[in-house]
Amino acid sequence: MKFLIFLGSVRTSTPPRPARLGERVSKACLSFFSSCYPEHDIELIDPLDYELGAIFKPHFAYSKRTVPQDLDVLADKIRAADGYIMLSPEYNHSLSPALANLLNHFGSSLFSYKPSAIVTYSSGQWGGMRAAVGMRVFLSELGCLPVSSMVHIPHAQDVLEEDGRIQPGQDEKRWENYVNRTFNQLVWWAEACSRQTEQSDPHALMSAFTRAPTDRDAP
Ligand SMILES: Cc1cc2nc3c(=O)[nH]c(=O)nc-3n(C[C@H](O)[C@H](O)[C@H](O)COP(=O)(O)O)c2cc1C
Repeated sequence: MKFLIFLGSVRTSTPPRPARLGERVSKACLSFFSSCYPEHDIELIDPLDYELGAIFKPHFAYSKRTVPQDLDVLADKIRAADGYIMLSPEYNHSLSPALANLLNHFGSSLFSYKPSAIVTYSSGQWGGMRAAVGMRVFLSELGCLPVSSMVHIPHAQDVLEEDGRIQPGQDEKRWENYVNRTFNQLVWWAEACSRQTEQSDPHALMSAFTRAPTDRDAP
């Protein structure tokens, strides 16, 4: 199976220090996931790799001929993935605008009927848990329902090295068990959704709206 991990920060400047703490968190998640599930593919999606521009124009608003190639390639990756790890810092008790902006560029039909896992972090003591609560709503609306277990990393700069390894003095085994509990749920649900999709194509049963969300309104 294929999984994508979305890094939710484009903050390359300081203060506050350190910049893009999310890079460490993404490296740690990649390492934990790959060691636990070497049989599955996992790819990092970094919003810094995409020129999204100041004017918001999502992938589905372009004609096939004019859609920017990088957006189209990412749309194909989202469609082909079996599950998602959504990684976000907490900014003003909310999910990162960089992550929301990137995800808003794609229609929910690309994410739907596949699970997601929420990973949040912060430099302070709450580990991004207030952002995580909002992410449940956001990801549910995208159709990639988040698994119940979540990962929160408070003081992430004191837990992870720049290369994503657990810092000396931290209980590495406990961190591994903690993170993998969420990833195990993700993979379990991804397998279940993939099997069920083979049996019954959800997109055939419940078609996406074609003009406006009001297509789905109550009579
Ligand atoms: C605009 C902004 C708002 C923030 N709001 C919060 C917050 O609400 N709660 C929190 O715990 N940390 C907050 N922080 C601190 C972040 O947890 C910390 O800067 C972290 O490194 C951000 O992740 P990043 O470096 O990957 O962008 C905020 C940081 C910024 C830049």
